[in-house]
Amino acid sequence: MKNTAIIGLQWGDEGKGKIVDFLADKFDAVVRFQGGNNAGHTIKVDGKTFKLSLLPSGVIRQKFSVIGSGVVVDPISLFDEIEKIEKNGVKISPQNLAIADNVCLVLSLHRQIDQILENKKGNNKIGTTCRGNGPAHEDKVGRRAIRICDLQHQPTLIQRVEELLLFHNALRKGLDEPIISSSTIIDELNSIKDKIAKYAVPAFEIAQRLEKCNAVMFEGAQGALLDISYGTYPFVTSSNISLGQVAIGSCSGFENVHKTLGILKAYSTRVGSGPFPTELTDEIGEFLRIEGQEVGTVTGRNRRCGWLDLVLISHALKLSAVKEIALTKLDVLDKLAKIKICVAYKINNKNYDYLPQNIELWSKIEPVYEEFDGWQTSTLGIKSLKDLPKNALVYIKKIEELTSAKVVIISTGAKREETIIVN
Ligand code: GDP
Ligand code: IMO
Ligand code: MG
Repeated sequence: MKNTAIIGLQWGDEGKGKIVDFLADKFDAVVRFQGGNNAGHTIKVDGKTFKLSLLPSGVIRQKFSVIGSGVVVDPISLFDEIEKIEKNGVKISPQNLAIADNVCLVLSLHRQIDQILENKKGNNKIGTTCRGNGPAHEDKVGRRAIRICDLQHQPTLIQRVEELLLFHNALRKGLDEPIISSSTIIDELNSIKDKIAKYAVPAFEIAQRLEKCNAVMFEGAQGALLDISYGTYPFVTSSNISLGQVAIGSCSGFENVHKTLGILKAYSTRVGSGPFPTELTDEIGEFLRIEGQEVGTVTGRNRRCGWLDLVLISHALKLSAVKEIALTKLDVLDKLAKIKICVAYKINNKNYDYLPQNIELWSKIEPVYEEFDGWQTSTLGIKSLKDLPKNALVYIKKIEELTSAKVVIISTGAKREETIIVN
């Protein structure tokens, strides 16, 4: 098995966690390289349901799991996740979990300001997960974030916290919010420093350990359409998601990525605000939401649902040079009589094969669809390509044709074994 990057091709929740867990037995290590606990993955194995957020999805198979330098870590949320997964029978220890010691931390003040700013935006809100990930990334590039390696030496920590609060308290005063004392943040950090220290490893040592592995999986969170540079800005998350980020955030060099697998849900979903040209607000959208159980793992919000959008997906494929796809949730379409794929946009009578970045045009998009007959028979749990109904194969072929990528895995259910390996 080659070192493989896993990239979501839509707005997240494509079923990356399920596919990473499914493939993980072929890998020695699984590395998260971006995002934070805004991610939420549901994985079903042997009658158990695991909910992961920050932990790489290889932990269920006890693979060496790395939280790379590109991730922002909320320690409280991480310890909560570790406690829950241990209760579910998965042991976490420094033997199977390493966190790069230069990751930036998500603190209570980040969660608070995320919520405060969303509230102030009213109708224009992004619809963030309010987990403080955006503000933590802002502090990272503002060079005032607190990293794990800052925790052990009190004078360093005090100085770093004061620099952080210089910014945050000025902002909070402007927003008429109460200011925060440095002792509050220092106490918060001192309460977690020893617990997190046992997992902290210099990024350089992680790189050395990964070099010795036969096969490493780089696990992306979110999806390419939420990428801060190339997504539907400003309705995006605050990190890069596309392939280039692997080299920045995984403690491993770019030449170590041998292959990229894009994860594509058989229809589209989105949580939060922002353009969604193929959104269905009718009974078919409702059908997809119920049949696909499209409720956010992190926030419990209903996911918006719609047809597959090959305009946006083609863009996502190009940005991460994806040639192979794992197609998920095919079974959700089982009962539909007709299925559509958007192949172009019409805006003011002009055809587009990409999403224009001009926000004012988004409400004028008319999707151009190709329509297919459904298969109207159950594919749930099918494990072999030859058992798929003919019309499902036509749908998959069309996706291959429109994307110039090969569908190599098909997921036909939430459980680990409900999966087809095409080749
Ligand atoms: P992720 O964030 O990309 O890992 O995706 P989520 O876990 O947030 O959302 C995917 C949801 O679909 C989860 O509840 C999975 O258990 C479920 N799921 C994954 N693959 C399939 C599939 O092929 N069929 C069905 N019906 N459910 C699936
Ligand atoms: P996984 O890994 C779906 C969305 C939020 C919001 C926007 C910005 O489970 O696929 P943020 O809290 O990141 O500042 O919110 O991004 N978002 C996700 N949507 N799946 C995710 O992760 C997401 N992570 C962030 O809903 O629209
Ligand atoms: Mg998710």
